[in-house]
Amino acid sequence: MKIFNKIKPLQEYLAKQQRPIGLVPTMGALHQGHLSLIEQSKKENSISVVSIFVNPLQFNDKNDFDKYPRIIDNDLKLLEEYKCDVVLAPSVDEMYPEPPQEHYDFGYLDQTLEGAYRPGHFEGVAIVVNRLFHIVKPDRAYFGKKDFQQYVIIKELVKQQNLPIEIVAVPIVRESSGLAMSSRNLRLNEQELKVAPEIYKALIKAKSLAYKKSINEIKQIVINHLTQFPNYKIEYVEIVNEENLKPLNDWNEGKAIILIATWLGDVRLIDNMELS
Ligand code: PAF
Repeated sequence: MKIFNKIKPLQEYLAKQQRPIGLVPTMGALHQGHLSLIEQSKKENSISVVSIFVNPLQFNDKNDFDKYPRIIDNDLKLLEEYKCDVVLAPSVDEMYPEPPQEHYDFGYLDQTLEGAYRPGHFEGVAIVVNRLFHIVKPDRAYFGKKDFQQYVIIKELVKQQNLPIEIVAVPIVRESSGLAMSSRNLRLNEQELKVAPEIYKALIKAKSLAYKKSINEIKQIVINHLTQFPNYKIEYVEIVNEENLKPLNDWNEGKAIILIATWLGDVRLIDNMELS
C-alpha cells in the first residue's frame, strides 16, 4: 500500500497506473461502511485511492470538528489489511495552501435537511470533493447512502462542473442492532449505544406503513417512537422525493425516502431509508 501526504508525488504515481481509477473520499475513523465502499471500488477499478482528510470547511460547529475521531494509525492498519492500493492523507496546508475562494450554488438541494441545520456544510464538502476530484482524476468515486443528501449534491456538482466521473452510491452498512455505521458512533456512551438502534426500528416502522398511512402520520409515528427514549432531540424527520429532495405531500409525488437527523446526548446522528 502506498501512502502519500503530498499531492504532487501522488499525481506522479497515478499517472503511471492503469485506469480506471476509483476514489473513496473519507474523513478517517474507518468502519465497515467505508470498507464496503473500498470493496466496491476494488471490484470495479484497476486501482483504488482512499483519501483521509478531516475537512475543516465542512464543520459549521467547531466543537464537532475538534471532537471528530482521528485514529489514523488504526485506519492505515485497516486499509493495509484490506489491501487498499493507495492512501492520500494530506495536511490542511497541503489541501488548502490558500484560503479557498470558490463558491457553489446547489439551490434547494443544499438549503433543505442537513443544509438547513448545518449552514455552509455542503459548500465545504463540495470544495474538498472537487479538489480531490482534480487531484486524483478518478473514473469513479464512491459515496455511502447514509449521507444521502451529500450523494445527491455530489451528483449535482459533477453535473455542474461537467466532470467525467461516475458517482457510485453504496448502500448503508448497519451494525447487527440496525444502527447505521458512522464514525460518530465512537462517541456514544453505553446508555446511548443501547437506544441508538431505535432510529433503525423507527425507520422500519415507517417503511412498513408507507403507502398505507399519510406522510404526516408516518412522520409523527417516527417522532413518537424516538421521543419515548431518553436523550433524543430530533432535528428533522422528513419524507422527500429522492431526486430533488422536495418534501412529499402525497405518495404519488415521486420516489420516497425518509430522512432523520437527531441528537442523542451530544452526538448528532443521521439515517435514512428508501420507502418506494
Ligand atoms: O462523507 C464524508 O466522510 C465527507 O463528507 C467527505 C465526502 C469525505 C468529504 O470530506
